[in-house]
Amino acid sequence: MNQDDRMFSIGVQKVDLKGFSQNGRVLDIGGGGEGIIGQLLGEKVIAIDPRCDELEEAAEGPLKIIMDARELKFLNNTVDGITSFFTLMYIEKQYHQNVFEEIYRVLKEEGEFVIWDVTIPQYSGGIEDIFVVPLEIKLKEKIVTTAYGVLWDKAEQDKNYFINVAEKVGFEVVAEENMNQIYYIKFRKNVSK
Ligand SMILES: C[S@@+](CC[C@H](N)C(=O)[O-])C[C@H]1O[C@@H](n2cnc3c(N)ncnc32)[C@H](O)[C@@H]1O
Repeated sequence: MNQDDRMFSIGVQKVDLKGFSQNGRVLDIGGGGEGIIGQLLGEKVIAIDPRCDELEEAAEGPLKIIMDARELKFLNNTVDGITSFFTLMYIEKQYHQNVFEEIYRVLKEEGEFVIWDVTIPQYSGGIEDIFVVPLEIKLKEKIVTTAYGVLWDKAEQDKNYFINVAEKVGFEVVAEENMNQIYYIKFRKNVSK
């Protein structure tokens, strides 16, 4: 079967990152590929990704390190801020809690973890088994158009799903926004819990 026949694509989703910034160094989880956060914030970013080829493909600027979010090689309470730009959709659900625990562990007290991701409904079992989200991303001086696709089976997720996982490990939600079929959530490491 032709790969194109397997694609289920939603409409183009728009994200405006022009005003996004974080204090200090930013650890970008899965920052290979387009490396959008790296394109936006440059040398402030430490981009980690288990795939060397994905990191090599990403633009220069960030410090790129081969690392898996399931086992972060940072000390406890040492990272200023963390981002995940359409990376969690690529990580199997069975590992999400583990990844959130690692992020919580390495973040400084009161540090923020910001995610952008997509609502993926349940797979219906049809021929189209790759769920694709096309994006138009506004950065400071340009617009990037790209598309991220994952195997649809067992990939269903939505904003509340991630909020539940995050709250389980101790995060509190400080901001959230739905933008058509995608969303933005800002979590804070809440040390008083
Ligand atoms: C295709 S990119 C998506 C968007 C990317 N953040 C960007 O800005 O373009 C997803 C990345 O997540 C990475 N990834 C998958 N599993 C991961 C894990 N366990 N830890 C960190 N990154 C992971 C993939 O290797 C891939 O490079």
